[in-house]
Amino acid sequence: MRRDVALAHASRLVNHGPTVLVVTEHAGRRNVMAAAWSMPVEFTPPRIAVVVDKKTFTRELLAASGRFALCLPCPPLVDLSCAVGSSSGRDEDKFQRHRIAHFPGPVLGLPLIEGCSAWLELRHLPEPHAEDAYDTVFGEVVSAQADDRVFAQGRWSFRDDNADLHTLHHLGAGRFAVPSRVLSAGG
Ligand SMILES: Cc1cc2nc3c(=O)[nH]c(=O)nc-3n(C[C@H](O)[C@H](O)[C@H](O)COP(=O)(O)O)c2cc1C
Repeated sequence: MRRDVALAHASRLVNHGPTVLVVTEHAGRRNVMAAAWSMPVEFTPPRIAVVVDKKTFTRELLAASGRFALCLPCPPLVDLSCAVGSSSGRDEDKFQRHRIAHFPGPVLGLPLIEGCSAWLELRHLPEPHAEDAYDTVFGEVVSAQADDRVFAQGRWSFRDDNADLHTLHHLGAGRFAVPSRVLSAGG
């Protein structure tokens, strides 16, 4: 069940390095690509950095619209994650081609991907002096949601009984790890 996540806890959704699907939309064009590299960079307001190659269509739509979303795929979406990370939205509407079910983001209205374990919408924070130099983009989180079967009370809970909602961690060459074993410090 999809539930709102307090913005104060939004960074915890990506703190452990999950693969994300970066969703963008501008002037009637929509797109999605996979990104293995993202991380929280500020506490309040919550800000996240994502590496989005300057050559991608995603980067073009992101810069033009000033917004983007991150959807966290889980094991049933592993093939889709690789597929949208292996072709460009310049040539095709990946939502249409892969029949991606989606729902509107609560603040920015971006098409968020059904079946993921968490979703964030972000306003792009332009860095004019760095736009041409770096592939990294920064965003401020304006909405956060998660499936409460795997993220509740501000914490991930990875268990055997919710394995289909675990996050994907890219190992390269189309291989992923999932967080199947959780250790608790101090007890
Ligand atoms: C699992 C996976 C992880 C990826 N991680 C990144 C990443 O962190 N940064 C990046 O710029 N590209 C990454 N890519 C490649 C982009 O997803 C790829 O260039 C995509 O085709 C760009 O699509 P677009 O032109 O429609 O935006 C990744 C691809 C895969 C399959």
